Amino acid sequence: MIRVGMLTSGGDCQALNATMRGVAKALYKMYGSDVEIIGFEDGYKGLIYADFRILKPSDFSGILTKGGTMLGTSRQPFKLMRTPDENGLDKVESMKQTYRKLRLECLVVLGGNGSQKTANLLREEGLNIIALPKTIDNDLWGTEMTFGFQSAVNVATNAIDGIHTTASSHGRVFIVEIMGHKVGWPTLHAGIAGGADIILIPEIPYDIKVVVEALKERNRQGKRFSILAVAEGAISKEDAKLTKKELKDKKAKGVVYPSVAYELGAQIQEMTGQEVRVTVPGHMQRGGEPCPYDRVLSTRLGAEAAYLIQQKEYGYMVCVKNNDIDKVPLREVAGKLKVVDPNSSIIREAKMVGICFGDEKLKEKD
Ligand code: F6P
Repeated sequence: MIRVGMLTSGGDCQALNATMRGVAKALYKMYGSDVEIIGFEDGYKGLIYADFRILKPSDFSGILTKGGTMLGTSRQPFKLMRTPDENGLDKVESMKQTYRKLRLECLVVLGGNGSQKTANLLREEGLNIIALPKTIDNDLWGTEMTFGFQSAVNVATNAIDGIHTTASSHGRVFIVEIMGHKVGWPTLHAGIAGGADIILIPEIPYDIKVVVEALKERNRQGKRFSILAVAEGAISKEDAKLTKKELKDKKAKGVVYPSVAYELGAQIQEMTGQEVRVTVPGHMQRGGEPCPYDRVLSTRLGAEAAYLIQQKEYGYMVCVKNNDIDKVPLREVAGKLKVVDPNSSIIREAKMVGICFGDEKLKEKD
């Protein structure tokens, strides 16, 4: 009999259940009743405080299409893992104890950047770890694709689609702010898929004058409306040059906006005289059911995790490489961010069809 622990950590996404189902179904197929799966509640918290339940094969039925996570999740910052909790409990030691007491063969961690760092820490502490790449942000180094990303892009694209008709009726400028933390992947993909005229992402700091000029050019061409897809982490060229502290001081002195989209909206309204509206789909992007792409990806990643367990190949994150399922050592993944390359072909192609990224004046007319 082998015992496999499983937890979902960090912000949720649509395909967590689908991925756990992939792992479980493959394990049950390999081991039959000789495998027991232990689910930890609310991410690493469940491992720290030994809050778990034994899962049955029936728990994994009917969850392929269910968003969220049946185990619950929480954010347990990596930087605080070595800091004792309010009762002086050593979190890392406690996680190791839970793992050992339960006599786990290994722990399967479904998580994004911070969660992978903790997974790697546990690996360094001698635990058998298999990690799975979760995040709507697609910013995990070592994998071409994370599960949750495509579903989130679908939601964000639907938001832009929904804005199109009302934008054209009113002849307004619309800004749709898209999640993605410090990277622009969801905004870039949803922006292209939704036909946004301007896409602003953190990796390509914008010049507000270039943005305004692109809007004016559209007006000159007789276009009644414009849509901007703006990443929550988008930043101006000016601000990108500042240190964290300088930026904080600058923001403290000026008008406080709820987010970058509102700041941009105010600037555009003032500089063009056009009516601007802001839409923020926010956490809706993590909600609802996984799209078919994610269901397939999750099933494949999950099955591969089960295979690694069978082979006793630990210390890896299952990943997508060259459009196929592969594995990458966790020690290589932890602490690295996968950002959009401003010189990549997708950016070049988007520019070729007339999308403005706020960095340079478009050469061709849209
Ligand atoms: O990492 C996923 C993500 O949705 C980011 O896109 C976003 O910045 C963040 O999580 C929001 O975090 P929270 O759910 O804690 O508000």
